Amino acid sequence: MLSWDELIKECLNCKRCGLSSSRTNVVVGRGSVNAPLMLVGEGPGEQEELQGLPFVGAAGRLLDLLLKALMFEEGDYYIANIVKCRPPGNRVPLDEEAEACLPFLRNQVYLIRPKIIVCLGATAMKYIIDRRAKITRIRGQWIERKGYWMMPTFHPAALLRDPSKKVLMFEDFKKVKEKLEQYR
Ligand code: URA
Repeated sequence: MLSWDELIKECLNCKRCGLSSSRTNVVVGRGSVNAPLMLVGEGPGEQEELQGLPFVGAAGRLLDLLLKALMFEEGDYYIANIVKCRPPGNRVPLDEEAEACLPFLRNQVYLIRPKIIVCLGATAMKYIIDRRAKITRIRGQWIERKGYWMMPTFHPAALLRDPSKKVLMFEDFKKVKEKLEQYR
């Protein structure tokens, strides 16, 4: 496993998949590197690529609101994505792109050692929890694996399309907050 400095350098120079040829910025992550909670999304969108930070566009603003409403503190969490470069037109990452990028995410998990990993949406759920599961079926349920508590929930962008999901996602994050209190 790489140190943070080595990992960031590797990510910035990475050419492991085709997304590297169209990127303007690599989006490694943001938040506290000692956080007990890690949030994982799909991949950077336009704003994220421009700023080099995950979840800083419309979906990110909604996520921040949710975290603030439930009184999560900045030191509580670190946010990253399955892929670190923007897929063209915000399409879902291809399997080969996700597979190429996953070792970086695993390295981040190794360095942060979070207690809880929240999978934001189907792509994060697919590569972290279960390739064949359905997010609508397993969201809101704890899965304990290799000493990590994992919570699959909706992607905040899904809430922008379907506001009726807000209540469910709020419920899921309430569970995350309760679990987090055990580790303070
Ligand atoms: N959607 C994601 O999955 N990740 C981001 O960083 C932004 C939007």
